[in-house]
Amino acid sequence: MKVACTGRSRALGTRIAEILGAGVVGSWTTRFPDGELYLQTGSLDDTTVVVGSLLSDESLVELLLLIDACQRSEVLLVVPYLGYARQDREFIPGEPVSARAIARALSTGVSRVVTVNVHKESVLSHFTVPASQVTLEAEIGDFIATLGLEDPLILAPDEGAASFAAAVAARGGWATDHLEKTRISGEEVRMEPVRGDPWTGDVVLVDDIISTGGTLAAAARMLAARGAKGVHAVCVHGLFAGKARTLLGSAGIRELASSDTIESENSRYTAAAAIARALSR
Ligand code: R5P
Repeated sequence: MKVACTGRSRALGTRIAEILGAGVVGSWTTRFPDGELYLQTGSLDDTTVVVGSLLSDESLVELLLLIDACQRSEVLLVVPYLGYARQDREFIPGEPVSARAIARALSTGVSRVVTVNVHKESVLSHFTVPASQVTLEAEIGDFIATLGLEDPLILAPDEGAASFAAAVAARGGWATDHLEKTRISGEEVRMEPVRGDPWTGDVVLVDDIISTGGTLAAAARMLAARGAKGVHAVCVHGLFAGKARTLLGSAGIRELASSDTIESENSRYTAAAAIARALSR
């Protein structure tokens, strides 16, 4: 078995390979004069674990080419961050179900798919090969424990993330709650507490994705105004689109952490062990 990774998933792919005791296949990309992507891999084994997050249209092409380049072996596909999953239905007539289009494309030439904290589990049914997800609540809980906070409250920004926050909180025996989120526009949200209790200690906001940062920035401002001692944010997938980091910093968020499903300076804990366990099952 060998592990092949796209350019943006090299650190995580290498960690997975180390845990599996597998070698890493080198792969190189360049551009043809007309701008098309060219890719080449090194020598393969019987099975290749292809690791590539779907972060952009470009990373989709790279991933498709890498899967195809590995066809001389059996391909197990790991998509740590499955982009396009949030368009999981036709919200208005004429729209694609983007999650379905992507899942179908990524099912070709692979025997199974593993992803991490997919936005909605129903998206997995669009793959035409067996597909499963691993979830990182335990890893987030263990990371929060390293922060040395005294009895932090683990807070979900909306009801949809409440069970996720509860699972994180259970890891450390901490209290948990959720906020009520009203989306005003793509970048603006209003956050309100469901209960009237003031939170005067440390609060750790947890969510699956941070994209523009609008959700957690609004939550952090509201918490600071209500007397929270310190506000921290931990997510699985740190997209940090546009000025998200600046926005979150100016909202007073102290610790801003994500996993390495999207590798960045905020990747403070890893999804590697959970993915390796799923691949070994
Ligand atoms: C929404 O359902 C997700 O769980 C996240 O809360 C959302 O994607 C975060 O987006 P943003 O950082 O742009 O507010």
